[in-house]
Amino acid sequence: GTRKFVVGGNWKMNGNKKQIGEILDFLKKGPLNKDTEVIVGVPALYLEHVQSNAPEGVMVAAQNCYKAEKGAFTGEISPQMLKDVCVDWVILGHSERRQIFNECDELIADKVAFALENGLKVIACIGETLEEREANKTMEVVNRQTAAIACKVKDWTNVVIAYEPVWAIGTGKTATPAQAQEVHKALREYIAQSISPDVAASIRIQYGGSVTAANCKELGSQPDIDGFLVGGASLKPEFVEIVNARQ
Ligand code: G3H
Repeated sequence: GTRKFVVGGNWKMNGNKKQIGEILDFLKKGPLNKDTEVIVGVPALYLEHVQSNAPEGVMVAAQNCYKAEKGAFTGEISPQMLKDVCVDWVILGHSERRQIFNECDELIADKVAFALENGLKVIACIGETLEEREANKTMEVVNRQTAAIACKVKDWTNVVIAYEPVWAIGTGKTATPAQAQEVHKALREYIAQSISPDVAASIRIQYGGSVTAANCKELGSQPDIDGFLVGGASLKPEFVEIVNARQ
């Protein structure tokens, strides 16, 4: 296919200078498949450090940003600030932002639109909870989360979608390749009819949720899985194997 494989490592609120040095070391050592885009999602405090020290080809993402340029928003950072320190990517709408920090579909859509307008590339995260899956609402939820973004975003060129079933995040309970492929395929069909066939064909959809070196190859060989968003395993040398899942 024409969609370039894209693997993100979401460090979440992990790492200190010493551990980040170790992560940069294994990224440098690689070798990382040059046909795969690699993005590391770094705590805000360390963005500039990682941006300056990451090996060539490894891009850096913030894990959040706000929907305004500046002002009285204590604790927040803006897309303009990220651009100012040469960070080109941001992860938005992660389930932890949705669940722990009560971010709703509309706020996330506003953030995605504002980040794109200001030149960032966005990994936009969606995914159902276990309760929603068990109630057979997976596609209803995933489509609703996508539609909320589609209300405010017209150009999808700089968007990667990360499908992360919440029940698979940090649990060791990975979606089976068939389960993940089923959602990715249905989501692409929904995008084709609700946005456009062109966007559906070109947009990259990552899978996230307990991806490891052991399960990445089979997941990565599914036709509608275009990469991964990796949490826990992105802190470990096995992240290199995950980047190289598709050769
Ligand atoms: O953003 C990454 C996901 O939340 C996956 O985390 O790989 O630790 O399950 P995990």
